[in-house]
Amino acid sequence: MDYLKTERDGDGVVLLTLNRPDKLNVLNIALMDEMDELFRSFESDSGVKGVILTGAGEKAFAAGADISELAALDRESGKARAQSGQALCYRIESFPRPVIAAINGYALGGGTELALSCHLRVASREAEIGVPEITLGVIPGFGGTQRLKRLAGPATALELILTGDRIKAEEALRAGLVNRVSEPGQTVQEAKKLMKRILKNAPLAVTAGLRAVLDNTEDGYAHEAELFGSLCGTEDFQEGTRAFLEKRPATFRGR
Ligand code: COA
Repeated sequence: MDYLKTERDGDGVVLLTLNRPDKLNVLNIALMDEMDELFRSFESDSGVKGVILTGAGEKAFAAGADISELAALDRESGKARAQSGQALCYRIESFPRPVIAAINGYALGGGTELALSCHLRVASREAEIGVPEITLGVIPGFGGTQRLKRLAGPATALELILTGDRIKAEEALRAGLVNRVSEPGQTVQEAKKLMKRILKNAPLAVTAGLRAVLDNTEDGYAHEAELFGSLCGTEDFQEGTRAFLEKRPATFRGR
């Protein structure tokens, strides 16, 4: 891989780093293709228990799509570029195990859209988040209009999209765009702590929680009941309830 770096720890947590620090980890097509390929391979690798996504260097998570590539787009190729960016973000969002963005610096444009497609976000106190596409004459195109609206509500989504202004991590926290704010330099550590906390729980229930909340079926309640029922038939559910009644910690096996 030319633009990504991966490290897997003993618990199966992959630290995936966007690795183009001299260009603030901007998302060119080659980097996004590498990421798509990588997430495909993670899907079929049950040894990958969770993914933490971050940017190399201290300055940026990702400063957006590569503007030198965007500048060449026309009506048709622009639509195709948006669709392939949306497909990557959807692949990440529908990944069956947790994906946490560790936003270590600027997350702008496609960088914000990528972070919003992760399941949870930890941001450095010094990080700045925004969707400045409007200043280039376009709008977010990798699913950002929809995810911003879903997470922060239409008023905040519209203000960010229509002004192109950047907000600091604390404001993003208040707006519901990030889950936690960390001290600078501690973002990946904080994301790892959060990941380990999640991975102590029953794996099938974690996957079902992701599926239920990110549900895009007609009837989310019916989907939730379906998932709840299927978990009640698992060994981990028997173990979890028995452990509680026996006043001991549960040992989950993902079955
Ligand atoms: N596309 C292409 N190149 C980019 C880029 C982008 N989105 N963002 C940064 N870069 C490049 C710069 O051109 C520069 O390259 P160079 O050193 O070869 O000149 C390098 O990354 C460093 O960026 P620079 O602008 O010098 O850093 P800065 O600290 O002065 O400013 C930002 C940082 C993030 C405020 C500024 O780079 C910026 O506004 N970037 C564009 C953000 C954007 O509009 N993203 C949405 C795209 S859809």
